[in-house]
Order: sequence, then C-alpha cells, then structure tokens
Amino acid sequence: MVASLSWLLGKWRSEDGFGHYPTLKDFKYIEELEFTHIGQPNIQFTFYAFNFETKKPMHREVGFIRMDPETKKVAFISAQNTGLVEVEEGELAAPQELHIQSHTVGRMTFGKEPGVKEIKRTFKMVGDELEQVISMATSATAMTEHLRIRYKKMP
Ligand code: HEM
Repeated sequence: MVASLSWLLGKWRSEDGFGHYPTLKDFKYIEELEFTHIGQPNIQFTFYAFNFETKKPMHREVGFIRMDPETKKVAFISAQNTGLVEVEEGELAAPQELHIQSHTVGRMTFGKEPGVKEIKRTFKMVGDELEQVISMATSATAMTEHLRIRYKKMP
C-alpha cells in the first residue's frame, strides 16, 4: 500500500538547507530526516533541523504518512515543536514526486504571530538526492516559499 512511497524510506541528511521568506533574513540550515515502515499501512517520520553555525536543534516535526489504497491519495500528518499540527493531502505527480497541501492547520492558543494558515510541500527525487520544498501562507503573508533543501541518503 505504501510501497509506492518506498523511495522515501531510510535516513537522509543535508547541510545545504536554504530558508527564506519575505519577512525573514535568508538563512542556511542542517536537517536530518528518517522515514520508517514497520509493516503497518503507514510510514512514520522524524524531521530534525539544526542551526547551520552552532548546530543547535531548531525546528522538529514528527508524524505519519498514509495512502488511500483506492484513490492513491496521500495524507501527511505532522506535529511540530512550534506548537503546530497539520494534515496535508495530495498525490504522486510522478513515481518519485509527491505534492501535498494542508487542509487542516491547528495552533496553540499561545503560539507566536503571525500564525500559519496554509502549507504546501513537494518531495521529489533529483538523481539520488531527495528534495523537499515548503511554502506557507501566514496571517501576514500570502503563499510564498519558506524552505528548499536537498538531502543525501545516509547508510
Ligand atoms: C520563521 C513556519 C520549518 C526556520 C517561521 C515563521 C513561520 C514559520 C510562520 C515566522 C514567519 C514570519 O515571521 O513571517 C514554519 C513551518 C515549517 C517551518 C510551518 C514547517 C512546515 C522550518 C524549518 C526551519 C525553519 C525546517 C529550519 C531551521 C525558521 C527560522 C525562522 C522561521 C530561522 C525565523 C526566526 C524565527 O522566527 O524563529 N517559520 N517553519 N522553519 N523559520 Fe520556519
């Protein structure tokens, strides 16, 4: 069922993350991803980002990916250390290219402003590297790219 997402499985690492947004100064970041499968009809993931200079932990998210066996629709369910939870859905645009977009974003009542309203991601293989691109709309800014990163597969 999740076999068509098996290209995501394993550990990935990048020292080449690029962050930007109209309201922010450009920044670089490091990130480690892991996608695991234990036989259930889902893939579990952890995404851990680190400051490029100090290597200190930054953004973290954990969650699950599921696929509807009938429609092949993919659901990406994520909880983030910033107090955000979200469900994105979408589909494979190519055998190794996933496009998803949030339909539900939940926030802590005491989360920082501006609040995230909508998130879009693409995951795709570029040669033997995995690329993730994340765009978001906030209460202050329309849908704009925030992150662009290519990961190498770890042993
Ligand atoms: C800022 C959302 C992932 C690094 C922000 C802001 C939002 C946001 C709403 C404030 C924007 C503004 O002030 O206009 C998200 C979402 C993410 C995500 C929804 C994932 C889906 C990441 C990752 C990193 C990162 C992986 C990597 C280190 C930053 C930095 C800032 C920022 C450095 C500016 C400083 C700060 O406010 O902490 N992000 N972010 N973000 N984000 Fe992200």
